[in-house]
Amino acid sequence: MTWVLIVHGGAKEIAPDQEDANRRGCLEAVAAGQAILEQGGSAVDAVEAAIRILESDPTFNAGYGSDLNADGEVEMDAAMMDGSSLSLGAVAAIQGVRHPISIARRMLAEPPTLLVGEGARRFAVAHGAELCEPGELILPGSDGPDRKTHDHDTVGCVALDTSGRIAAGTSTGGLDETLPGRVGDSPLPGCGFYADDQVGGVAFSGDGECIARTLLAARVMQALEGSQLPQAAVEASLTHLARVGGEAGGIVLDRVGRVGWAHNSSHFAVAWVTDSMRTPLVRLRQDEE
Ligand code: GLY
Repeated sequence: MTWVLIVHGGAKEIAPDQEDANRRGCLEAVAAGQAILEQGGSAVDAVEAAIRILESDPTFNAGYGSDLNADGEVEMDAAMMDGSSLSLGAVAAIQGVRHPISIARRMLAEPPTLLVGEGARRFAVAHGAELCEPGELILPGSDGPDRKTHDHDTVGCVALDTSGRIAAGTSTGGLDETLPGRVGDSPLPGCGFYADDQVGGVAFSGDGECIARTLLAARVMQALEGSQLPQAAVEASLTHLARVGGEAGGIVLDRVGRVGWAHNSSHFAVAWVTDSMRTPLVRLRQDEE
């Protein structure tokens, strides 16, 4: 049985001096997931491992390096879905944790599918998550007058393991200078992500409100169920953004491991690997050679 893993580091504009960091970060994330899948590990473990790398890398707007809200604080959203059981775990507007994706993953075993704010942090504390002071996640210089923002992005990963299990995960610091408590698409199933072993898996990045209003992940899943190829499915989903505006990028794989990805942003950092590839591939734009 084949295994496949695809990650993204966000639909966004990537300045020339950030290209190497985006490629390197995505490849490191792929390597972490690949190490698990080639040993016969689970798709859920691989997705968590890949996203933890991206959350630790200040190149990406997730975990350490998250954008700041209008109060100058970091609030993060993350989600994980296990396509075998359709189990869901998600946190939103959580503060003071190093790896939101690991808390979402821990929630797969619990009845709630989404915990927000202080409730999400209490769950993290109760389950021994790695905590930090909220300010520790703010990049040096990112809260001053010359603050650099990430435009918009999110990180995500979808994997298929050798047992045919599919998992999808997302993690984000949200959009720059949004209202405190604002939640985008990333922790909402059918909007920013979805996974079902019988169909495939998908993870999006971009303008959360626009993605949520157009149900992009649900559209991709429906197209895969209708036997569309992943590339056609994700490209078709993005056409729906025309009604509401906004930018997005999505990564997709189907139940037999075929991969697709597309974006209407200027760049979309993506890397993927399968058991039949010698080395992973990384791209920053769909039209890159
Ligand atoms: N896609 C990330 C967000 O809008 O929060």
